[in-house]
Amino acid sequence: MKKFHITTFGCQMNKHDSERMAGLLIERGYAPCGDPTEADVIIFNTCAVRQHAEDRFFGNLNNLKADKKANPDLIIAVGGCVAQAERELILEKCPHVDIVFGTHNMPNLGFMVEAAEQGRRAVCAVADEIEILPTAVPSAREEAHHAWVPIIIGCNNFCSYCIVPHTRGRETSRTQEDIVSEVERLVSEGVIEITLLGQNVNSYGRDIYGGSRFAQLLNRLNNVAGLSRIRFMTSHPKDLTDDIIYAIANGDKICEHVHLPVQAGSDRLLRAMNRKYTKEGYLATISKIYEAIPGVSITTDIMVGFPGETEEDFLHTLDVVEKARFDSAFTFIFSPREGTPAATMANEVPAGIKSERFDRLLALLNGINLENNLALLGQELEVFVESVSKRDDSILTGRTRTNKIVNFEGSADLVHTEAVTRITQAKTWSLRGELLEVAVKS
Ligand code: SAH
Ligand code: SF4
Ligand code: F3S
Repeated sequence: MKKFHITTFGCQMNKHDSERMAGLLIERGYAPCGDPTEADVIIFNTCAVRQHAEDRFFGNLNNLKADKKANPDLIIAVGGCVAQAERELILEKCPHVDIVFGTHNMPNLGFMVEAAEQGRRAVCAVADEIEILPTAVPSAREEAHHAWVPIIIGCNNFCSYCIVPHTRGRETSRTQEDIVSEVERLVSEGVIEITLLGQNVNSYGRDIYGGSRFAQLLNRLNNVAGLSRIRFMTSHPKDLTDDIIYAIANGDKICEHVHLPVQAGSDRLLRAMNRKYTKEGYLATISKIYEAIPGVSITTDIMVGFPGETEEDFLHTLDVVEKARFDSAFTFIFSPREGTPAATMANEVPAGIKSERFDRLLALLNGINLENNLALLGQELEVFVESVSKRDDSILTGRTRTNKIVNFEGSADLVHTEAVTRITQAKTWSLRGELLEVAVKS
């Protein structure tokens, strides 16, 4: 049996696309393998969001030159966002690549592999717009209990720093019926937790229903029997309307966690980023969320070093962090992406200042994470048990509805069940708890 290996870079959408790629190849009789040196087909699912992600991919790809020389039958395929944005560069610079396929061409991966096997070298398929929704192809899920469910693909926002609208195209929503029936099928296969995916889930439905239907979709999914947790990401602050906040507050299956990327605190920078909200507007949304959803956790993405960022601008970012009390944050240093407006903006921030600001930001975030976690001491929190700890097999790792990790003593047969723990110790990145009761067996 022939084997394939997939290396995935980037966001959850890419992780999910990789599951679809695996599904397509398994359908064609290939078997997944963990070790790329044993694979007949090696696939890279790439990310172009920052230079660093792209460099890591090109590094990995170059390392395969010798393998390809030693085994000319090896098939190397490159998909995802770098393939979409830079097909020429890959074909020119990397003659050992057999297949380049764009984000919209993934459903045809099986045919492309077949063509490469028959020696039709350098198969390249990069379409500009979506033809087949990738959700129409089979998926080989990484986990039995959890599934990623894309609800909207692409992005119309064109934040001035961001490559994603160029690599994923315009917003394309699936119908509510299609999504609900997929979720029902997933539940019948044993899934109890889903994460709804989109670059901006709040816009869900706009392209097909003439207005956002995200709140309605959440309400409908909340009625799916047998499902226990509904997560979603990412929310755009400009579109997080009251009906969505109420849907989260009222839906018993909808987890009390909102990932709401702020990017920066200064209105001047937010305007230059084309984010379409102000610091005050963002903080007002945050207050509404805290008021409406007891115990909610709010996480974010923050970027430092956007062109022209002054110390004063940066202090506004720190101020938002203090006021919003984030439970965690993904932090990034601005990376110019060719073809985006920010890449050619003047007043690049010197590297030393960027990294000094980055460190100050992290120190503040870490302190607040810890304070938030300390406030949970003594509380009884429901966790879904995900795994046995790699370091100590008497310790289980679970996740709260608010997406926090709780480690506690317990036996391995509790994995993939829900349990109630009391929090006994708080750290910056995780909580320690004790098992109180075992809830539903999934
Ligand atoms: N759709 C999501 C985010 C997608 S990209 C949203 O709208 O928030 C994930 C994160 O990468 C972004 O939130 C941003 O913080 C970061 N990012 C995107 N482009 C970047 C760039 N050019 N340089 C540095 N960070 C970037
Ligand atoms: Fe990029 Fe902005 Fe779209 Fe998010 S909303 S994917 S940051 S353009
Ligand atoms: Fe990266 Fe593409 Fe996702 S650029 S963040 S993999 S949409």
